[in-house]
Amino acid sequence: MLGNKSINKDNHLEIAGCDVVSLAQTMGTPLYVYDEALLRSNMQEYEKSFRENYPHFSLAYAGKAFLCSALCSIIKEEDWWLDVVSGGEYYLASTANFPVEKIIFHGNNKTNEERRLVLREGVGRWVVDNEVELNLLLEEASSYASYKVPLFFRLTPGVDPHTHQYITTGKIDSKFGFLLGEAENAILKAIQSEDLEVWGLHCHIGSQIDHIEPFLKAAEVMLQFMVDFRKKHGFVFRELDLGGGLGVPYTDEEKSRFPSSHFYVKEISEKVKEMCGELSYPLPRLYIEPGRSVVNTAGSTIYRVGSVKEIPGIKKYVAVDGGMTDNPRPVLYGAKYQAHIGNRVAGEREKVSVVGKCCESGDVLIEEIELPSPSPGDVLVVEATGAYNYSMASNYNLIPRPGVVFIREGEPELVVRPENWYDLVRRDITPLE
Ligand SMILES: Cc1ncc(COP(=O)(O)O)c(C=O)c1O
Repeated sequence: MLGNKSINKDNHLEIAGCDVVSLAQTMGTPLYVYDEALLRSNMQEYEKSFRENYPHFSLAYAGKAFLCSALCSIIKEEDWWLDVVSGGEYYLASTANFPVEKIIFHGNNKTNEERRLVLREGVGRWVVDNEVELNLLLEEASSYASYKVPLFFRLTPGVDPHTHQYITTGKIDSKFGFLLGEAENAILKAIQSEDLEVWGLHCHIGSQIDHIEPFLKAAEVMLQFMVDFRKKHGFVFRELDLGGGLGVPYTDEEKSRFPSSHFYVKEISEKVKEMCGELSYPLPRLYIEPGRSVVNTAGSTIYRVGSVKEIPGIKKYVAVDGGMTDNPRPVLYGAKYQAHIGNRVAGEREKVSVVGKCCESGDVLIEEIELPSPSPGDVLVVEATGAYNYSMASNYNLIPRPGVVFIREGEPELVVRPENWYDLVRRDITPLE
């Protein structure tokens, strides 16, 4: 099992001391459930590792992995920054009273509305992704912002992290960021502007990365760029943001595959210190932006089993009351998950396929898994769904999206209510008679 889970005397699964059977009964299904203590301890582990290894750093949580107002409060309490990638994420954070001066604003195609909102309201670091955006910023900054806009420039370091192609972002062929050869003039333009302030550089090479080398390679490329830039133009970048991307296990089998956050922080810190020492470059403030590795293991999804269909000699399909609408990752990336029958964890097992309720044959959550005779009415718990599930959920087939519960000191607290059918029609404009 992953995270803080156990089996109680009734043979029920407990998440952080909460019986999933009573959770399903009281809160309904499907339901995203987060162990708040585990989520916080994942953040604190990053913090501790940096304190031990690097003199000045900022940790920014990547909101795209999972964001809601209650999580914003936790990020604020843990004193992290927040990485947002859209006007919507920015709006959520600011309505949850997250300090805008600790927001990093990303995006490869920031719309007029998004740029102007952020310029007006304020931002910690604005990540310029491309030339078109820079020119718009040069035009708009003085009209919309009453401060010098603090900038990072996103570069593509040309590093292949060997992860799924849909979550690879740092290779030369990427829609994100400036090519190294093209960044120089853009950065110079920003340095010369009275309305902008260049603080540093950013890269993000991809997600669910299972080895350290690509991160070290990316740090090396970025630092070399900084050193070359200083040599040519005499300008010193004070900050370096290496993005997120550390992978995490989704199944027990994968437990030993991924480096710990501690090892990852230690290695990148050492790399940066070593290179800066050799090249006599002032140590930049280091930022990282983990998302998945903060929230994934802390989250699970609870479903109710509905129909069960056996095709003799071929397969047994176990259908749950959710599916690709609350977890599109198996369909998108062929992602693998593990699950338990929450009301009968131990028992004689049989091979089944766990599927959703959408009108797509591809709506398969787990292609093959051994579970103790799943039957209608059982509670099925899929582990490690904390990242890129809630945030990627859809209303396909007009299925309402599940609510979110945080377990705090053994007690469940609803932090996002489930959608209802009215939520699905409330934006429709009634046709005139
Ligand atoms: C710019 C940026 N930072 C951080 C992240 C978070 O990555 P992860 O969830 O893999 O840590 C992403 C994810 O795509 C990203 O695009």
